[in-house]
Amino acid sequence: MAGKVAVVTGGAHGIGAGTARLLHSEGARVVIGDLQVEAGERLAAELAGGTEDVVFVRTDVTVESDVARLVDTAVERFGRLDVMFNNAGIIGAVGPIDRTSLEDADLTVAVNLRGVLCGMKHAARVMKPQGSGVIISTSSPAAVMGGVGAHVYSGVKAGIIGLSHSVAAELRRHGVRCNVVIPGAVVSQMTADLVAGGADDLAGAETALDRSSYMGRALQPDDVARGVLYLASDDAAYVTGVVLPVDAGMTGAGGPSAMADEKYAAQGGLREAGRRTE
Ligand SMILES: NC(=O)c1ccc[n+]([C@@H]2O[C@H](COP(=O)([O-])OP(=O)(O)OC[C@H]3O[C@@H](n4cnc5c(N)ncnc54)[C@H](O)[C@@H]3O)[C@@H](O)[C@H]2O)c1
Repeated sequence: MAGKVAVVTGGAHGIGAGTARLLHSEGARVVIGDLQVEAGERLAAELAGGTEDVVFVRTDVTVESDVARLVDTAVERFGRLDVMFNNAGIIGAVGPIDRTSLEDADLTVAVNLRGVLCGMKHAARVMKPQGSGVIISTSSPAAVMGGVGAHVYSGVKAGIIGLSHSVAAELRRHGVRCNVVIPGAVVSQMTADLVAGGADDLAGAETALDRSSYMGRALQPDDVARGVLYLASDDAAYVTGVVLPVDAGMTGAGGPSAMADEKYAAQGGLREAGRRTE
């Protein structure tokens, strides 16, 4: 990431903060955009450590002029834009489909899908003439599996995948890649609000996710950040239009693997009418 410039939306907390931290530690200069000003400024100051390499810009991704200013800050301060991480998100509308609040649904779409679209639009405005860059957006297992997320959230997170595939096909001839990351349930404010004692109870979230994890420990923002780092790096120079799950196989290998049970090791293959191969 040395010499590269990254913008991270939703960068004050969770996956965004972990990614801003990792990209910076790998040499990138980073512009953090978020609604939460105090946390965003605190993180930017901590990472910058007296340099001017990390900047916070108060950003609401539902407001186009905010997103435009976020991208323009990267160009004005650091001269270019190499990585756009569209990561800001909310759960938004919840509850049964027949009682869904369309007002909540509109906000869910505005933040999670229109906000990503807006980030792509303004990143492409800079990256196309630059002839290089990577756009990465955060989707969810709920995009590809029913029953693991709220209805509207699931729909718009699926929309991010369709949008990214379409934009990847346009932008590759300009040297710009466009990819998606799917994190599993991660220790963050979003999850803590649901499974622990409130948004700031990250320790409670970690304990709960340790127990439910497919891999025996909770997924941390840094785990997701490492997937984003790969997609952002020149190691992925030929990788575009992909969806990278960082989810311990939740989406690709969600079953309990019952047929691999030890009890089957001593048996032959299962054939018609319960017959076993010799
Ligand atoms: N938490 C999970 O288990 C999980 C799983 C899969 C995907 N995701 C996705 O990962 C992304 C990051 O979530 P997280 O788990 O780090 O949660 P988080 O709540 O810690 O972080 C989300 C950040 O987005 C910011 N944000 C919300 N609305 C915004 C807006 N309108 N404009 C700018 N910033 C805004 C918040 O202030 C917050 O800092 C989200 O898109 C989320 O949907 C989360």
